[in-house]
Amino acid sequence: NRRVTVRDLALAKQRGERWPMLTAYDALTSRVFDEAGIPVLLVGDSAAMVVFGYDSTLPVTIDDMVPLTAAVSRSTKRALVVADLTFGSYQGSAEQALAAASRLMKDGGAQAVKLEGGRRIAPQVETLVSAGIPVMGHIGLTPQSVNVLGGYRVQGRGEAGADLLADAKELERAGAFAVVLECVPADLAAEVTAQLTIPTIGIGAGVHTDAQVLVWQDMAGLTPHVAKFVKTYADLGASLTAAARSYAEEVVAGTFPEERHSYS
Ligand code: KIV
Ligand code: NA
Repeated sequence: NRRVTVRDLALAKQRGERWPMLTAYDALTSRVFDEAGIPVLLVGDSAAMVVFGYDSTLPVTIDDMVPLTAAVSRSTKRALVVADLTFGSYQGSAEQALAAASRLMKDGGAQAVKLEGGRRIAPQVETLVSAGIPVMGHIGLTPQSVNVLGGYRVQGRGEAGADLLADAKELERAGAFAVVLECVPADLAAEVTAQLTIPTIGIGAGVHTDAQVLVWQDMAGLTPHVAKFVKTYADLGASLTAAARSYAEEVVAGTFPEERHSYS
């Protein structure tokens, strides 16, 4: 009854086994996902939106991510916990990346980190891996670069496909244990998956990747507007709205609490 390791994920690819990843940010929900058997939990910088209420991932900091990561690590037993390096915490140099990643590992208890970018950040990947930190790459739509990309749009179409494949190969060469492909055409994701020995994790990348990831609030129906690539597996938004309304009505009516909820 040990945690999933990056080695388990490498073996899964050799065996042709697909696996799911979900984001996680707090104790109770990460425990639910761990007990449901989700093998990899990502403390994503999507926390900027779904936890902190910003409208992009840019404002969130390593200081913000550490307590969320620690909550997820403390509340899970089986899942591999991966935490995102935040905008501005790793692009400057390999030394800066090592300092930021160390905080997520030591103070947050993560077992791996994720960072955005391809060939440009290979030196960071090499330094982290040689320091003993497993690194997950993330290419395609990289939300920390939304201002350069000009919006949240599909990446790697046409000519840009070759660049994306080169980025993926360079991440593998630099020692990454897996790579997220976000919002890329399904046939390109299939090609990258076939050419890499490390697992690919798709989000808006079709069915041919080795793994899939979704933001849990998106797949559970809490997020008001979701992208085309999201499937909602539950309607927690409607359930919570109904619960809050019933509670409010009963408080106003004086029908809650009842005697069985009260102390004599
Ligand atoms: O921050 C996040 O949630 C992510 C996933 C969508 C891959 O990076
Ligand atoms: Na992220």
